[in-house]
Amino acid sequence: MNGSVIILAAGVGSRLKSSVPKVYHKIGGLSLIDHVIGTAKALNPSEIVAVLNPKHKDIELVFESSVKRAYQDVPKGTADAVKCALESLQNDSSDGWVYVLYGDIPLVSSETLLKLAEISKTCEKTAVVVLAMDSSGTYGLGRLECADEKGTVKSIIEAKDMLSSAKILPLCNAGLLIRKNILKRFINEIEPSASTGEFYITEIVRLAHQSGHVCRYYEGDKDELLGVNTRAELALLEKIFQERERKKHLDNGVTLVAPETTFFSHNTQIESDVVVYPYVVFLENVVIKRGAHVGPFCVVEGSTIANAKIGPFSRLRTGTEIQDGVRIGNFVEIKNSVVSRESKINHLSYVGDANIGKNTNIGAGTITCNYDGIKKHRTAVGENVFVGSNAALVAPVEIGDNVTIGAGSVIVKNVENGALAIARNNQTNIANWNTKRKNKKCVE
Ligand code: UD1
Ligand code: CA
Repeated sequence: MNGSVIILAAGVGSRLKSSVPKVYHKIGGLSLIDHVIGTAKALNPSEIVAVLNPKHKDIELVFESSVKRAYQDVPKGTADAVKCALESLQNDSSDGWVYVLYGDIPLVSSETLLKLAEISKTCEKTAVVVLAMDSSGTYGLGRLECADEKGTVKSIIEAKDMLSSAKILPLCNAGLLIRKNILKRFINEIEPSASTGEFYITEIVRLAHQSGHVCRYYEGDKDELLGVNTRAELALLEKIFQERERKKHLDNGVTLVAPETTFFSHNTQIESDVVVYPYVVFLENVVIKRGAHVGPFCVVEGSTIANAKIGPFSRLRTGTEIQDGVRIGNFVEIKNSVVSRESKINHLSYVGDANIGKNTNIGAGTITCNYDGIKKHRTAVGENVFVGSNAALVAPVEIGDNVTIGAGSVIVKNVENGALAIARNNQTNIANWNTKRKNKKCVE
């Protein structure tokens, strides 16, 4: 694409009442601004510039490498933010187009943005294409004042500046595609609003129209174009995002037994013929291969699951690899571990920083003691091992192949291949103890 993208994200977002700046709040585990950068990247523009608040310099973005940062010291309005970005645009020729996107409209798609580019090509005189949406049920926002029935826009009136008696305009603004030479020509002519003192980028439409240029609009889908200004809107957009993801996975051949109870992250990857039972949460970086079953009430993060069964009530944390034929059962937590083919960890266990060989059975209540209070250590368990219930494997420790660990053992030393390891107190049985006790009581 012969053009650049400017993403406005330097505002304070005071309506969220948060110490975290608005654009760093997340939907599907990804910040609002990263959603917008990801979409901008898909347009393959010559440059993406994000306008940020200098106070938030240290916050890293997931798509950091794709963007150039510009800083707006004081948020004096969206036109002032665009000015900051223009100063840092490398590709300084006056050709081409600039998308001005709002960092708090995270669900806009690249397909929708491309529609603006298509409209820009229909008439040479076009200076601005406004991304519009139906304004019903919204408040705030900038309303489009149309000049005629043919989709020509005369101006955008910000709600903050509208008289309460003003006619309700049916469309509002959700982003702009502006011809670069027009942007450069008019940006310095924008006057601050009489009511708020802010410089509005939307004023570019009025200025261009008054000079005989054509400003048009494209009406997009409201579900994509709603912005986040309040916590309620953040929750609403999360809901829209989740519904979109559920549909995507269902369409891809994933069975969701109760889709409305499955929650996805922005990068959940699931192959077809996976079955997901009710009440499952996929956090970031999850990959699930064909044929896997994820039982009810599982929480999975940073893990790869092959053709295996997990759940109900399993928690897989970052760095976990579950191989084919594995079975992970209820109240089992696994972190940063590999569980090899056909192994089972069926009940009430914590396996952290471990390698479990193939065809091994980890008994109920087994714990890998991976933390000594200062450092984390690894546990290695070989193939065809049977770990009895309630064993504690104190890392660092290595258990060989074909080993049996007695139930209740605390294993602190390595165990060689083929051995039985038992580390627990010997049982003492005292004969007739209860009878003697009762007799004693009678005497008293
Ligand atoms: C803005 C638009 C409005 C549009 C609405 C869409 C303007 C003047 N208004 O209104 O037409 O309908 O978005 O949701 O453009 N920002 C800066 N620097 C600033 C001010 C804002 O970078 O000085 C950034 C914010 O971080 C935010 C975005 O611009 O990501 C929009 O700002 P916000 O204050 O939310 O504008 P709205 O009132 O929603
Ligand atoms: Ca907004």
